[in-house]
Amino acid sequence: MTVHFIGAGPGAPDLITLRGRDLIASSPVCLYAGSLVPAALLDHCPPGARIVNTAPLTLDEIVGTLCEAHEAGHDIARLHSGDLSVWSAMGEQIRRLKALGIPYSITPGVPSFAAAAAALEAELTLPELGQSLILTRTPGRASSMPPRENLPAFAATGATLAIHLSIHNLAKVVEDLTPHYGPDCPAAVVWRASWPDQRIVRATLATIEEAAAQGPERTAIILVGPVLGDGDFAESSLYAPGYDRRFRPSGTDSLFVGKE
Ligand SMILES: C[S@@+](CC[C@H](N)C(=O)[O-])C[C@H]1O[C@@H](n2cnc3c(N)ncnc32)[C@H](O)[C@@H]1O
Repeated sequence: MTVHFIGAGPGAPDLITLRGRDLIASSPVCLYAGSLVPAALLDHCPPGARIVNTAPLTLDEIVGTLCEAHEAGHDIARLHSGDLSVWSAMGEQIRRLKALGIPYSITPGVPSFAAAAAALEAELTLPELGQSLILTRTPGRASSMPPRENLPAFAATGATLAIHLSIHNLAKVVEDLTPHYGPDCPAAVVWRASWPDQRIVRATLATIEEAAAQGPERTAIILVGPVLGDGDFAESSLYAPGYDRRFRPSGTDSLFVGKE
C-alpha cells in the first residue's frame, strides 16, 4: 500500500489541491501534523478512518505507525502544513520508507509564504525591484543553519526575503537586514495567513519591531524587500504593445512570424 504525503496548505481548509482532498478521502488511515494542519481537513477522511495526530510522536513512532498501516494493507494520507518541499520533515520519512521498501507518493500544497503574499495582496517579484525570492529561516533550538546560509549573506543580494520560523527573533532579523536594505525598506509580518484569525502588520525595517510587538510568537512569516512598497514599479515588457513575442508577433518583421 502507499503512503501519500499531502501538502495540506497554509490553514484555510479549502486551500488544498483536489488530488490531496481525494487521497485523504480514499485513505483509511490519516496521519496529520496537528500543530498546523486544520482539523476541518480531517472531515474528508472516510467513515471509520484511523486518524493520528503526529505532533506528540517521535520519528520512530511515526514510521512505526506508517509500517503498521502498510502491513494491514491500508493506504495512508500523511498531511503536513503548507507545501512539502520546505520545512515539512518529509525528507527523513521518505528516507525511512525507501529503506523499508514502502511505496509513497507526493502531492504538493499551497505554501504559507504564498498565502502570506496573498494576504498582503503582493507580488513578490516585480520588474526592476525584485526578481528573486529567498525562503529562509533563522537558527532554532532544533535546527542550526549551514554556516554560509545567514541573513547578512542573503541580504547582500537585495532579494525579497520570506523568513519563516523566526518571529521570536525579529530584533535580530532587523539588526542583520538594516545595513543592507536600509531602515526605510518595506517589511511585513503575516501571522496565520488564511486562518480566520490571520493578522497582518505592514511597516518598514525601522518600525516593524514596534508594529509587531503585540503579535503572537508563533506561526508567522516576515517578508522584507522593496517589492512590498507603495506600488511604484515598472510594468513588465511582456505585455507592452510593441514587445515582440511568440504568442503576439509584433509585425511582419517579427522574429516569430511563421514560428507559432
Ligand atoms: C514547520 S514550518 C512549515 C512550513 C510549511 N511546510 C510551508 O509550506 O509553509 C512552520 C513555519 O511556517 C510558517 N507558517 C506556516 N503556516 C503559516 C501561516 N498560515 N501563516 C504564516 N506563516 C505560516 C511559519 O513561519 C511557521 O513557523
